[in-house]
Amino acid sequence: MKEEITFNSKMVLAYDANTRISIPTYDLIFTMVQSYFRAQLDEKAASLLVVGAGGGNELSAWGPYNSKWTFTGVDPSAEMLAMAKNKAVQLGLESRVQLIQGTIDDVRHSDSKYDAASCILVLHFIHDEQEKLKLLRAIKKHLKPGAPFVLVSAYGDLYDAELRNRLNIWKSFFLDVGYESAKVEEMGNTILTKASFISESKIEQLLREAGFTNIGRFHSTGLFGGWICHAE
Ligand SMILES: C[S@@+](CC[C@H](N)C(=O)[O-])C[C@H]1O[C@@H](n2cnc3c(N)ncnc32)[C@H](O)[C@@H]1O
Repeated sequence: MKEEITFNSKMVLAYDANTRISIPTYDLIFTMVQSYFRAQLDEKAASLLVVGAGGGNELSAWGPYNSKWTFTGVDPSAEMLAMAKNKAVQLGLESRVQLIQGTIDDVRHSDSKYDAASCILVLHFIHDEQEKLKLLRAIKKHLKPGAPFVLVSAYGDLYDAELRNRLNIWKSFFLDVGYESAKVEEMGNTILTKASFISESKIEQLLREAGFTNIGRFHSTGLFGGWICHAE
């Protein structure tokens, strides 16, 4: 069995900087998702479910500029959630943000379902394919029919040269900002062995099986891709 990655305090401190090297377009992803949600939600008051809200970057990217949006963020890591809470407080968003430590199973089902949801950089930390599907199905159950959903994840077929090519680009981001090559090699091996890569077609299949339609990839940088879709 693969060793799971848990977000402890050391990783939390390094998270914001490292992610922006690992995904040079990281901030742009949030800008694009904001535009997508805005176009779908039509400036109305809207409730957003943020799965894997640790770190708080969804809150800080979307909260200040969309005053009618409220956020329910869920994440099992207390340390990552503490960072999210700090950002919410600093930006004066507390009245529009609820944070839940746990998984999607800890999000209460209520009569009013969510208007939109995101699951950014979470799916590849779940190793079992059925568990990935379970998570996506649970997100779908929390959404109103037609609600937009965004998924961002590492993807690719581990045995395919296509992924190896993208891994080389990913490594070059780190070399270019001054990481030593031995360290970059080690990080490349770690991500391939500890993260759970599945092919793009498998990701699309899981989304369909979970009850999402109009699935399309809107983004790809290095090892990561982003998909937009709608709850049926
Ligand atoms: C790489 S961080 C991404 C955080 C944030 N979405 C972002 O893009 O900055 C991954 C987060 O997923 C969380 N996570 C891991 N397994 C999860 C699960 N089953 N449900 C929700 N969050 C999970 C981790 O605790 C961590 O905070």
